[in-house]
Amino acid sequence: MKESVKFAALADFHQAMFPDRAENMLDQFIEAAKKEKVDFVIDLGDFAFPLPANNIPIENSKPLIDKFNSAFDVPVYHVLGNHECDYFTKKESLEFHGFGTEGTYYSFDAEPFHFVVLDANFMKLPEGYVAYENRNYYKWSYENPPVIPYIPDYELEWLREDLAKAKYPTILFSHQRLSPGYFNSGIRNRDEFLEVVNSAPNKVVLSINGHEHVDYVEKIDNIWYYSLISGSNMYAGSKYSPTVCQYSQTQYGIITLDKKGAYVKKTEGEYIGPSPVDIGYPHGERYLPYVTEKYLEF
Ligand SMILES: [Fe+2]
Repeated sequence: MKESVKFAALADFHQAMFPDRAENMLDQFIEAAKKEKVDFVIDLGDFAFPLPANNIPIENSKPLIDKFNSAFDVPVYHVLGNHECDYFTKKESLEFHGFGTEGTYYSFDAEPFHFVVLDANFMKLPEGYVAYENRNYYKWSYENPPVIPYIPDYELEWLREDLAKAKYPTILFSHQRLSPGYFNSGIRNRDEFLEVVNSAPNKVVLSINGHEHVDYVEKIDNIWYYSLISGSNMYAGSKYSPTVCQYSQTQYGIITLDKKGAYVKKTEGEYIGPSPVDIGYPHGERYLPYVTEKYLEF
């Protein structure tokens, strides 16, 4: 059996927010992943994200989506992000983005670990779980009432069965966080999720997500939860000017796993123009434009 596995992860690339720089920034990621000789590549969601307000058609994102999908001679995996559900149903989105036929949650092995991709792009409404599609989730809140995000009961049952069959310790990938995290923006049915995860015979050791654009790691009950920063930006929102603080270089996770832990390599980068501190964003100093070195011991 192999002793370790190395992969490259890109989160929240949001290419349509930086049309002039996007291809160069994608090339930086492709070059880094190849140089590191990774065993696989994973996109953690929100790759394109053309805001309707910007009048950029989703079709304009296709060339770089195709470039990402065909750039590597190792497997490429995808996690569905909420913004992949802005222009499509999930089924349409899988087709448009070339995510393959596995569906929105699936698993694979890369020795010596089992990897599970989860889909938390669901609302829980009085009538039941409703999948994100065509921006239907925009009107709902993380709080008051906490309608998003959820992993539905049927997906958790699939996870229970998948983990029961796993031959190796497991790493989870998701777009939204699976623990409370810095913003308390994780899945709302964490207790149900934990019941499934804690009953797995081969333990879950690490969960990696995007969505938050902030580098944040916490260990709860022997599971590490790590938010990888965006590939391109810190998103401050319309109350701030500028609304987006751009990174000078593409940010990504080069992560090596062995039985003892996960090593996350440091990257380089700074802000182009005003930083979150400069624009007065709350706790702006927390938003680093690079990935910090980490060793997460299992
Ligand atoms: Fe997101």
